[in-house]
Amino acid sequence: MGRAGTAAALPGIEDLDVDGRRVLVRCDLNVPFKDRRIGDDLRVRSAVPTLEALLGKGARLAVCSHLGRPKGEVVDELRLAPVGERLAQLLDRPVTAADDVVGDHATAACASDDEVVLLENLRFEPGEEANDDGFAEALAGLGHAYVDDAFGAAHRAHASIVGVAERLPCAAGLLLQEEVAKLSKLLEEPAAPFVAVLGGAKVSDKLGVLGNLIGRADAICIGGAMAFTLLAARGQDVGGSLVEKDRLDDVRALLDEADAKGVAVHLPTDVVAATAPKADADHDTVPLAGIGDRIGVDIGPESAGAFADVIAGARTVLWNGPMGIFEIDAYSGGTKAVAGAIAEATSRGAYTVAGGGDSAAALAQLGLDDSISHLSTGGGASLEFLEGKDLPGVAALRGGG
Ligand code: 3PG
Repeated sequence: MGRAGTAAALPGIEDLDVDGRRVLVRCDLNVPFKDRRIGDDLRVRSAVPTLEALLGKGARLAVCSHLGRPKGEVVDELRLAPVGERLAQLLDRPVTAADDVVGDHATAACASDDEVVLLENLRFEPGEEANDDGFAEALAGLGHAYVDDAFGAAHRAHASIVGVAERLPCAAGLLLQEEVAKLSKLLEEPAAPFVAVLGGAKVSDKLGVLGNLIGRADAICIGGAMAFTLLAARGQDVGGSLVEKDRLDDVRALLDEADAKGVAVHLPTDVVAATAPKADADHDTVPLAGIGDRIGVDIGPESAGAFADVIAGARTVLWNGPMGIFEIDAYSGGTKAVAGAIAEATSRGAYTVAGGGDSAAALAQLGLDDSISHLSTGGGASLEFLEGKDLPGVAALRGGG
């Protein structure tokens, strides 16, 4: 399987002639968004350095992004204008928010002298996800060069990611380069001991990354609902917790491989057991064997302490996914303990990386988002990168333009 190349192999914005030209910049401004209000603005803040660098080189910008999954239709709640307002604040200059993607308004705005134009949500156009030639051509027609800074969407072979890279002189933005470099470091030269901490709901989402980490990591700590499929594969009773039965054979094979390669896989020994995944459900902390017919909604303190001990010995840490239902305060203890242990590891010099919206949210909630060597803006993209896949958005930059 091909792996994404290093950042050094990608053309950068210094390789593009942008002075006085309109540059199409693909960002991932897909922020948590409810009632037209932005939640965590990490992705908007992360887009700023590339945009400022291009403006500093005399470029005019046509910024584009998706927001949510409108599936080729105009959905008013998913218009990008509120994101444009935040971007204008951060850039400290006006942003012209077009009300279409490649229509009259966007075309006129891009032909004007306006320094920063934000195109409307790319996924209002059916041609975006289909990587339709006509749509890619129209999008490419709005600029003279293309910069891809949307690491979070680099696993999508969409028109704004691969289609335009084939049609315009192209380069990787600073964020995309940084993500590739920082994540590559985990796969290529992790200082040992390398500890991976994985959580989240479904083991099926993490099988690829688990497979690629076994053999690279020295220890893997697993929490979240996904841990129950691994516990079940080891023959333990997990009560009413979700087990992905169709994945048990895959999981057993991975656990055997980990044993054979001497990779320690740490699973929860105690859990917060609840009658339902709800804040007001009856719950208490029990050893795993005491779960009864309830479901596990967080790892217990004994497990959190054991995971923290493993993290304390690490020189490299990767974290992806919460240890329990983190949004509910009573079930957030395990995730908080892991976040704290990783912050401490960072402070004593370990190289630490977290990816995925929930891990980022946990760190932000604890005020620890600066206590990590690299907080990835990619959820699915960072996972697929760490699976060892050559992401379409990265490959397109090597081969395009
Ligand atoms: C993300 O939030 O992971 C990216 O923006 C990609 O979004 P998608 O999963 O809707 O393609």
